[in-house]
Amino acid sequence: MTKDLRHFIDQLRGHGSTDLVEIERQIPRDLYMTLIQEKLAKEGRYPAVLFKDVAGHPWPVVTGLFSSYRLLAHALGVDPTDKGRVLTEFMRREANPIAPIPYAGGTAPVQEVVLQGEGVDLGAALPVQRHCEGDSGRYITIGCMICRDPVSGVINVGTYRHELKGPARMGCMMNPVQHAALIRGRHHDAGKPMEVAIFIGHHPAYHMGAASRGPIEHEELAVTGGLLGEPVELVPCKTVDLAVPAHAEVVIEGRIHPGSFEMDGPFAEYAGYYGGRMNVPVIDVTAITHRRQPIWHDLFPSFREHTQVGLLGREAQLYRRLREVVPTMVGVHLPPSGANFWHCYVSMRKRTQGEGKLAGLAVLGSNYDVKHVVVVDDDIDIYNDEEVLWAIATRVQADESCSIITGSFGAHLDPSAYGEVRSEKGPMTTKVIIDATRPLTRTFAERVRPPRELWDAVNLRDYL
Ligand SMILES: Cc1cc2nc3c(=O)[nH]c(=O)nc-3n(C[C@H](O)[C@H](O)[C@H](O)COP(=O)(O)O)c2cc1C
Repeated sequence: MTKDLRHFIDQLRGHGSTDLVEIERQIPRDLYMTLIQEKLAKEGRYPAVLFKDVAGHPWPVVTGLFSSYRLLAHALGVDPTDKGRVLTEFMRREANPIAPIPYAGGTAPVQEVVLQGEGVDLGAALPVQRHCEGDSGRYITIGCMICRDPVSGVINVGTYRHELKGPARMGCMMNPVQHAALIRGRHHDAGKPMEVAIFIGHHPAYHMGAASRGPIEHEELAVTGGLLGEPVELVPCKTVDLAVPAHAEVVIEGRIHPGSFEMDGPFAEYAGYYGGRMNVPVIDVTAITHRRQPIWHDLFPSFREHTQVGLLGREAQLYRRLREVVPTMVGVHLPPSGANFWHCYVSMRKRTQGEGKLAGLAVLGSNYDVKHVVVVDDDIDIYNDEEVLWAIATRVQADESCSIITGSFGAHLDPSAYGEVRSEKGPMTTKVIIDATRPLTRTFAERVRPPRELWDAVNLRDYL
């Protein structure tokens, strides 16, 4: 069976309400779906949520597909209780890409309905929502945009946000560092429109593949194939010279004309704060194609699911780097409490004094987003914030365990980041390494733990 969004939702159904909550009651299109996710989070729950009845639109909406590490495990079909294995399995598959193939059936599912010309009305056709009160409008938040580099001919895929601007117009916010922005610049310089096709609603591996990092020649759809363990099947678009995944739910085709810009924002960003307004390129939409009864995929941008889409790719990058520099590294994790990869936890079997700090330096030198690195011994569960904080409480003396590096480049969306003049806003942050490993050169108190044989022998359910 082809791995697509429906297949994945069915898979989650098999795991019960920890991983999928289905809401039958009618819900308003704006603000409510994000509110429900916030309410679930207050109860410590981070499931995917399927809203079956959205007021004013016939399509169901699914959201929260990346809200927990368990869901990332399900996307790879890995046991969600074996967190360390989720990363190693991701790395194994990422290293074995599978090239896409042409779709060989008749009409592709994603082209069962084709809207072109006067038939294109984004606001009417799609249940796009306003996520947060201060957002400037309604945004598509988890579309994968396909385009072609005019220099190399390579196909690029990346996730970009799109604010609806009119029946056949929408924005495309591209940070200048992204490949899609470079490709747009190349089209602009040649005075040519850039063709794009955005697919929405597919198996989560498509989004993990789109978030994978590499040079511009890096083929995201082949990485996706590797993650899925089967090739992506592509079908030619109707109005642009590109091909899209045949089993997606929805595709939007269009062109970005040179010099065509509109304002975007404010927008509720991933770190939990609003981002400001900026000029962004505009897509003139030429077609919308979709399944006969599609499921709309949405993502709450100011919520943990936003950064978790690309989480395993980031962790994999750090894992590889740390393994080179500190072979005693056991695991690395970027916890959701770090807002956007701003906290990093590393566990290790320390052999010599200073190795904890070396691990911290390796992390900071490998990823500019990370702001605070905590290095712990391997008896600490790096997937549990409370255990990491306990290690800090009991194994750290700040004067010897903490190293502070000021004025380093960091994430520009960090509201506390600063400029060359400290009181000004800019891209710089202060990095901290907290080495919370036990010292090796002096005796250290023994940790209290239940006897191992008893722990393994006793089943809690026999006593409750
Ligand atoms: C949910 C989600 C939304 C994103 N939105 C944007 C965005 O609006 N603008 C942007 O520049 N990057 C955004 N990103 C980051 C890019 O998608 C990511 O860096 C990607 O690797 C860029 O691909 P490319 O450089 O191959 O074009 C988003 C990522 C995710 C997971």
